[in-house]
Order: sequence, then structure tokens, then C-alpha cells
Amino acid sequence: MHNILVTGGAGFIGCNFVRHLLHTHPSYRVVVYDKLTYAGRLENLQDVAEAFPHRYAFVQGDICDREKVEETVRGHDIDTIVNFAAESHVDRSILDPDAFIRTDVYGTYVLLETARKFGNLRYHQISTDEVYGHIEGEHRSKETDPLRPRSPYAASKASADHLVHAYHITYELPVTITRGANNIGPYQYPEKVVPLFVTNALNDMPLPVYGDGRQMRDYQYVVDHCQGIDLVLHRGQIGEVYNIGTGQEMTNLEMVEILLDELGKPRSLIQHVEDRLGHDRRYSMDVSKIQALGWQPTHTPEQAIRRTVRWYVENRWWWEPIRAGKFQEYYRQVYGSRRILREP
Ligand code: NAD
Ligand code: DAU
Repeated sequence: MHNILVTGGAGFIGCNFVRHLLHTHPSYRVVVYDKLTYAGRLENLQDVAEAFPHRYAFVQGDICDREKVEETVRGHDIDTIVNFAAESHVDRSILDPDAFIRTDVYGTYVLLETARKFGNLRYHQISTDEVYGHIEGEHRSKETDPLRPRSPYAASKASADHLVHAYHITYELPVTITRGANNIGPYQYPEKVVPLFVTNALNDMPLPVYGDGRQMRDYQYVVDHCQGIDLVLHRGQIGEVYNIGTGQEMTNLEMVEILLDELGKPRSLIQHVEDRLGHDRRYSMDVSKIQALGWQPTHTPEQAIRRTVRWYVENRWWWEPIRAGKFQEYYRQVYGSRRILREP
């Protein structure tokens, strides 16, 4: 493994992974291939471009554009593809699923075809715990559980997982898949709940908690997730799937309380609003398989939330221009006419 194509590398998890890869593997060259949608930003990689001018390159392109993907793989002598590129926000998939089907499903197919055409390149797919759907009772999703996605986003990611598996079985493509729980940390676009709530609170705006706020999520620190992906990329068994998360869930209300305490802001900022359509109440994964490979998270969800809050407090240069731009239109669309719940 020497020349790695990281698709979607200008997004939140992708940029953290690229940083991790270049610092951890001094012989690797990394090519980021990214369309630069609203979520992909070159400033996420500015420090990387400066620190690694000879081992890092950026190509702007769409993963659905087969010619451009092939040209990039050929031109940079790529031997490994790690695919982060996706439309990633559930609320946007509810408003309009179109781009999700194109990028997350068709785009994955283009990358798989390219990997096959260039001599069965090593391929790693970044997937999500959302493919398992809402989890009942005390159950924890195992990698072998059936996929029961319930949002257009989750369904597009589950479709991609099926394609990746099919390419392994049919063409013996050397693939692995990781399914991550909710990531938080530096450079997460402020549409996602933790950066949205931190930046709202810093502006003394209400925090729109969907429904009763008792939905459960496993909030993991993004760098821990990246270390898990790296481990699977190097030591994972070909053809296998690995869940990555802390294995500890909390309710959204518990998350909000930690966040407000870290900021020193009052609980009165919490505002219960009309719930997300088809909202999954609980995700919960069994992470023993990746632990057996030698991975442990270095942050609890609470530590991850506190550390993330501090990053947003210290990095207004990053999020203030985002919030001042097109984001406002999105915010009005999702929250503008949302009913406020007096008794959630
Ligand atoms: P993100 O939205 O922050 O970044 C997505 C990146 O993909 C952006 O840089 C965007 O420009 C790029 N992109 C989108 N469409 C593209 C296309 N057609 N061609 C090329 N590039 C394109 O997303 P993220 O939160 O960093 O998520 C990255 C991956 O991890 C996704 O596959 C997502 O499903 C998965 N995932 C995310 C989480 C999470 O909590 N954020 C958890 C588990 C898995
Ligand atoms: O679980 C992994 C997934 O985590 C990833 O695959 C997705 O790409 C990522 O977006 C994330 O999905 P979620 O839907 O869990 O994340 P989000 O930050 O949108 O919401 C987290 C929880 O917070 C969820 O229960 C919905 C709730 N929420 C979210 C928003 C944006 C609110 O209560 N209010 C909000 O305004």
C-alpha cells in the first residue's frame, strides 16, 4: 500500500483520516478526490497541503464521473481506494434523496468498477451503523445482522454495502467495510447535531431537540474512528465487515446537557421541536470484532463531546463563514416552520 485514493477526503471524517494517514505512515502518498459539495471544503485540508507538499495531492471530481476517476487512478498510480465520499445528512435525505442515490449508490459502483478494471485494487468502504436500522431492546448489532435501513440516507449506504460485498464474491475484489457510529470532532459541518448545537448555543440561539430527545446515539471521537479504519485497512480480514464505536450510547438530552455544561450555557436553551420523520430511536453496535483486532477508543462519548465543544469554541474562523452563507437557507428550510413542542 503506497498510493491511496481517499474519496470524500475534504469532508469531516475524510480530512481527519487523511491527516492521520500522512502522520502515521511516512511512506504513503495520499490523493484526495472530492467534488467539493457544500460539505467538502479545501480549508479542511489547508494544514495538510502545507505540511506534506510531496505526499499529498488534491483532485476535484465527482465519484460518479467514471472517466475522471479512472484518469486519477491511472495518473497517480493508485493501489488502494478508501471511499468516504457520500451525501451524509439524514435530514437532507428526507428533503431530497436524489443526490444520495447518485453518489452513495452509483458513485460506489463507479469506484468498484474502477478498482476491478485496474487489476483488483484494495478497496475499503466507509459505512454506518444506520444500515442496521432502529435497534430494539437490549440488542447490539453484530456485523452479520440483516440490514434494515429506514431513511433514504441509510438505504443508500446499505445499497453500497451490498454492492461492495457483491464485488468481493463475484470478482474477488479485496474489500473491507467499516460501519461507524456517530462521529464528532473537528471540521464537522454544523448541520450535524453536536456542531449545530454548540454553534447555536455560542450565538445564544435555541437548540432544536427533535421529539422527546430520548433517542440514543454512540458519539465517538472522529480520530478514534480513523484509527479503527486504518487498522482494518491494514489488518482486517478481506471480505469482512467491522463495526466501529465506543459501544456506549447516551440519549440526545444527556449529550445536550454535557455540551451546555462545557460551554457554561443554561439548559433553558433547549427547545423540543417536531420530530424527524422516521427517526431511528436507538443505534447500538457490538464492537467486539474490531476490539479483537486490537482497537480501543481513547475517548468516552462524554470526553468526545467536551473536546469537540472546545474545538468549536476555539475555531470560529472555520464555522462562522459557513453559518453566515448558504447554511442560513438550509436552516430556514429545516427549522423555520418546525412546530415547537410544549410537552414533548
Ligand atoms: P461529509 O458530508 O462531511 O463529507 C462528505 C464528503 O464527500 C465531502 O467532502 C463532499 O464534498 C464529498 N462528496 C459528496 N459527494 C461527492 C461526489 N459525488 N463525488 C466526490 N465527492 C463527493 O461526511 P462525513 O460525515 O465526513 O462522512 C464521511 C463518510 O462516513 C460517509 O460515507 C458517511 O456515510 C460515513 N459515516 C459518517 C458518520 C458520521 O457520523 N458523520 C458515521 C459513520 C459513517
Ligand atoms: O450513526 C452514524 C450516522 O450519524 C452517520 O451515518 C451520518 O452520516 C451522520 O449524519 C449521523 O446521523 P444522525 O442522524 O444520527 O446524526 P445527526 O447529527 O443528524 O443527529 C443525531 C441525533 O440528534 C439524532 O437522534 C437526531 C437528533 N437531532 C439532530 C439534529 C440535526 C436533533 O435532535 N436535532 C437536530 O437539529
